[in-house]
Amino acid sequence: MKAEADPNLIVYFNGQYVALREARIGILTHALHYGTGVFEGIRAYWDETGRELYLVRPIEHYQRWRQNCGILHIDVPLPPEELSAITLELLRRNGFHTDIYVRPLAYKCAERIGVAIDNQDAFFIAAVPYGEYLPSENGLHAGVSAWRRVEDNAIPARGKICGAYANSALAGDEARRNGFDEAILLNEAGHVTEGATCNLFMLRKGRLITPSVTENVLEGITRDSVMELARRELGFETVEREIDRSELYVCDELFFTGTAVGVAPVVRVDHRPVANGAIGPITRSLRQLHFQATRGHLPAYRKWLMPVYAASGPAGRNAPHPAETSVA
Ligand SMILES: Cc1ncc(COP(=O)(O)O)c(C=O)c1O
Repeated sequence: MKAEADPNLIVYFNGQYVALREARIGILTHALHYGTGVFEGIRAYWDETGRELYLVRPIEHYQRWRQNCGILHIDVPLPPEELSAITLELLRRNGFHTDIYVRPLAYKCAERIGVAIDNQDAFFIAAVPYGEYLPSENGLHAGVSAWRRVEDNAIPARGKICGAYANSALAGDEARRNGFDEAILLNEAGHVTEGATCNLFMLRKGRLITPSVTENVLEGITRDSVMELARRELGFETVEREIDRSELYVCDELFFTGTAVGVAPVVRVDHRPVANGAIGPITRSLRQLHFQATRGHLPAYRKWLMPVYAASGPAGRNAPHPAETSVA
C-alpha cells in the first residue's frame, strides 16, 4: 500500500489515457505551491465470488467533487455521469482484479509564481491497487490531536481542498509518532470533529451520534452510507450533534468511516478502553453490512455500485449476484 505506484499504470490525464510515467506536471504549477487543488477518493472493490469489480457511489463522489471545485473556482468540464464512465474505462484498461482506490484531482495548473487564482484548470484521474488503509480488524487506538481542525472560514474542511490536508498530515503524523493508529481532531470550540482522514461515530446510551456537517467535517459519503445502513437495517436514526471530547471516554462504541478506512472500529482512545475495549456489536454489524453492500452482496444497495466488467450501468440492472444475501 505504501509502495510507489507502478509507473506503467494507466491514468486519465489531460483528456487521454496514458502511462503514469508520462503524466507529469511542471515544478511551477500553482497547486503544487499553494495547495489550490480539490481531490476525491473513490473505492472500487473486487468481489471474488461474482468475479466483478464494483465502483462505489461514483455519481455522489463526482457531484461532491464538482461542488467543492466551485469553492476554489475550479471548473470540471464534465458531468458526474461522464466522469464515472471515464473511471470505468480507466479501471478496465488497467485490468484490475483487486481492491482499488481512485484518485480524481482538479487543480490550478498555471505555471507561474503568484498566489492569485486564475482560470487555468486541469484534472486527472488515477487508480491504484489499495488494500486496507488502517489495519482495523481488531480495532484501532485513536488519540486526540494537539492540532485543531481547519475552520470553515480558513480552509473549509468540507471542500477536500489539497492544502487543507497539511492539517490532516500533521495530526496523523503526530498520532502515529505517539503510538496511536489515527488522530481525532477537535475544532476551535473544543468539540470533536473527525479523524485525520475519516468521519467519526459514537454509540452512547443507545443512540448513534456523529458530529453535524457544520462542525468542520468532510461531508463523508461513507458517513451517509452508514447512516442509511443503520436506519434501514438496524433501526438507528443517527443523531447529528456536537460531541464533547470527554464523551469519547464514556461512550459505548466508537468507529471511523471513510472511503479509505471503510467502517473501522476504535477500541481505545487516549489510552482508555472504549467500554470494555472490545469491538461493539453495532460497530461489528455496520462494518459487515458495509462490506457486503460494497461487494454487491446486498440487493437493496446495488444502487450504490457500478460494475466495471459487466455491461455498463448500475449493478442493480444485472443478474442476481451469486453471493446475494438478505439482511434482517
Ligand atoms: C478528512 C476526511 N474526513 C472524512 C473522510 C471520509 O469521507 P468519505 O466517506 O466520503 O470518503 C475523508 C476521506 O475521504 C477525509 O479525508
